[in-house]
Amino acid sequence: MKYGYFDDRNREYVITNPRTPWPWINYLGNEDFFSLISNTAGGYSFYKDAKFRRLTRYRYNNVPMDCGGKYFYIKDNDTIWSPGWKPCKTELDQYECRHGMNYTILKGVKEEVTAEVLYFVPLKTWAEIQKLTLTNNSSHPKQLKLFSFVEWCLWNAASDMENFQRNFSTGEVEIEGSVIYHKTEYKERRDHYSYYSVNTPVQGFDTDRETFFGLYNGFEEPQVVSEGMPRFSEAHGWSPIASHYLEVELQPGESKDFIFVLGYVENHAEEKWESKNIINKDKAKETIARFDTSVKVDTALAELRQYWDNLLGVFTVDSGDDKLDRMVNIWNQYQCMITFCFSRSASYFESGIGRGMGFRDSNQDLIGFVHQIPERARERIIDIASTQFPDGGCYHQYQPLTKRGNNEVGGGFNDDPLWLILGTTCYIKETADFGILDELVPFDNNPAIARSLFHHLTVSFDHVVNNLGPHGLPLIGRADWNDCLNLNCFSNDPNESFQTTENKTEGSKAESVMIAGLFVVYGREYVALCRKIGKSQEADRAQTQIDLMVESIKNNGWDGEWFIRAYDFYGAKVGSKENEEAKIFIESQGWCTMAGIGQQEGQCIKALDSVKQLLDCEHGIVLNHPAFTKYYVEYGEISTYPAGYKENAGIFCHNNPWIVIGETEAGNGNRAWDYYRKICPSYLESISDLHKTEPYVYAQMIAGKDAFRPGEAKNSWLTGTASWNFYAVTQYILGIRPDYDGLIIDPCIPQDWKSFKVSRQFRGATYQVTVDNPHGRMKGVKKIVVDGKTVLSNLIPLFMDGKSHDVMVVL
Ligand code: BGC
Ligand code: NOJ
Repeated sequence: MKYGYFDDRNREYVITNPRTPWPWINYLGNEDFFSLISNTAGGYSFYKDAKFRRLTRYRYNNVPMDCGGKYFYIKDNDTIWSPGWKPCKTELDQYECRHGMNYTILKGVKEEVTAEVLYFVPLKTWAEIQKLTLTNNSSHPKQLKLFSFVEWCLWNAASDMENFQRNFSTGEVEIEGSVIYHKTEYKERRDHYSYYSVNTPVQGFDTDRETFFGLYNGFEEPQVVSEGMPRFSEAHGWSPIASHYLEVELQPGESKDFIFVLGYVENHAEEKWESKNIINKDKAKETIARFDTSVKVDTALAELRQYWDNLLGVFTVDSGDDKLDRMVNIWNQYQCMITFCFSRSASYFESGIGRGMGFRDSNQDLIGFVHQIPERARERIIDIASTQFPDGGCYHQYQPLTKRGNNEVGGGFNDDPLWLILGTTCYIKETADFGILDELVPFDNNPAIARSLFHHLTVSFDHVVNNLGPHGLPLIGRADWNDCLNLNCFSNDPNESFQTTENKTEGSKAESVMIAGLFVVYGREYVALCRKIGKSQEADRAQTQIDLMVESIKNNGWDGEWFIRAYDFYGAKVGSKENEEAKIFIESQGWCTMAGIGQQEGQCIKALDSVKQLLDCEHGIVLNHPAFTKYYVEYGEISTYPAGYKENAGIFCHNNPWIVIGETEAGNGNRAWDYYRKICPSYLESISDLHKTEPYVYAQMIAGKDAFRPGEAKNSWLTGTASWNFYAVTQYILGIRPDYDGLIIDPCIPQDWKSFKVSRQFRGATYQVTVDNPHGRMKGVKKIVVDGKTVLSNLIPLFMDGKSHDVMVVL
């Protein structure tokens, strides 16, 4: 069953039934100020950091689901309703939610009144704008009572949920005209406040939550709304909120706009106050004035649309398959921007409290984002590298506000350093900005021990070389990409987290074949980069290490039909036919086939065939097989999950594109495509009831074949699945791949594709690529004609002339 439809022309997903199988959300803002918003107006806002600068409160995992948001209540005589259906849940005559590129429009129609709310964060603005349009469609005048509602969070989202003995006494607000200011803790150490305004005089307000709702009522029935009378409450402690009250008269056919601004301000310490205890409101007033008319708001929205037109204009495909085109041209790229901004912090599955920016995650997110805004990717690379240690190891996460490494989680994930080579080389291939390699970048955020970014790459490479185990394979450390394969944990205490508990790495023989494959792939990238910048000795040195690693994998990482996954603490095989459960894992098949290890010996093809045979299922490729059915103390968290979920034989979508790429390396376009399509959300729209999460974005996990309900997705939005699928489909299936000296064209497609077109802006020129497949091939470029001239290589040269160039390709 479907709950809406794609409107590709407007780049929107339009939800027509509010009772989606799970809240289907969107993100507003893409730089400093952010909001999450669901299809029924749930969600919250924050400035930069979802933990330390949480502006509005949210209730996770509640009953009902998705409680708290940016709500409007309309009282039309005795009918009380909300434009987004919730929180009132009054049946609407019509409901529509349009999730677009960083904006959402909720529309409700009830008793001949239309209420449409446009929510967005304008570019370069620390505020969310809500433009509410009320229209009277009836033939008689309407007297409506309108109440807005947001609930302030006391800034630190974690302590907001636990330290009530303090919080219930600290809340403070100021009310001036139509603006409600939230200033809790401003008088002590905070130099920031937030505000909620409307661009017209109000007839009342409330700022105390219990007064507004009544202690025993829920979001759906605030007492003041039922009574149709605000109480002008001023919050002192307890739970501050902001609610405006407006009396609206509409003649037949008349429409009125109301512009609400929910904003955030930071003041210099010396400019904090206007007078004793009265906050300096200048900056808030400036922002409010920037958006005080509908024309100004519409202009800001048009700017936002233009911004997205530009971003999405860099890569477009015309394949003739709408489902593919809308993913590649719109939603997959949009999701890449969102994961770039948030890493794994704030979604409807990540609380925004626990996790900052991941070292490996952010590097991988870059590969789907770098073509959009390379300057921001550059800044991110420097931030990430600054949290590295001099020996190449690194903090696993850092906090976006402070950009400091997160001590609670610490380091020791031995795959982490290698992803910096991926992020950096992708960036340079896109931009040719080799200068970034000379940037001085701190270690451990300490500028006194800064070295060039290139040096950071060298120590990243060497961190693997310096940490090899008994089989010549990389020691796994705390864990590799699979956070839950904890080979050094041995945890028997349910009160400790696998992610942070002390590891027994002393004397451990635990090695990772996945890191080995990863090392070969990104080691080669490191070598290519060294050669490119004339460091041939370093390239030779590195190449020797890579050759040794290839041999170690062939000798000690091969199980006969597939690559083993690891060696455990004691040196026993993990992911081998010798094991009782989890005989095969996806990660090592992905990385070793991408590295082409044992290609001549037929190992790659065998490994890929084993994936097909043992890991593939109707809904995608599962992580391991058979699933673990009991807890293995020597494997850790992976075996805690019920069979078929998460890292225990779930379809962990992040790694499926690794196999897609492996298949394209092997030339099997049919299979690559089949795998791509299986987890691609636009192809799953019609099974939304089963799939549950949004049909416009990838989820981290789809329940695998051993699960109770195979095909059910969880953890949508913030997942490396976004960037990896974009990377796989654009660079390996469609085969348009940036390289240092030009654009490589090397598609690997299903046999029955006849042709497709791609437009790619790259280094100051636009490449209009048409690929024809008259002979039903899967791979292999037979002929390329550029601007009418046949070229002999599939590396299309750089033009850098601001013009458009025709590239005709025949397979
Ligand atoms: C999850 C992983 C996640 C890790 C770190 C685990 O419980 O299964 O997917 O990466 O926690 O937060
Ligand atoms: C999610 C984490 O964000 C990522 O870093 C990890 O690689 C995967 N889970 C697999 O465990």
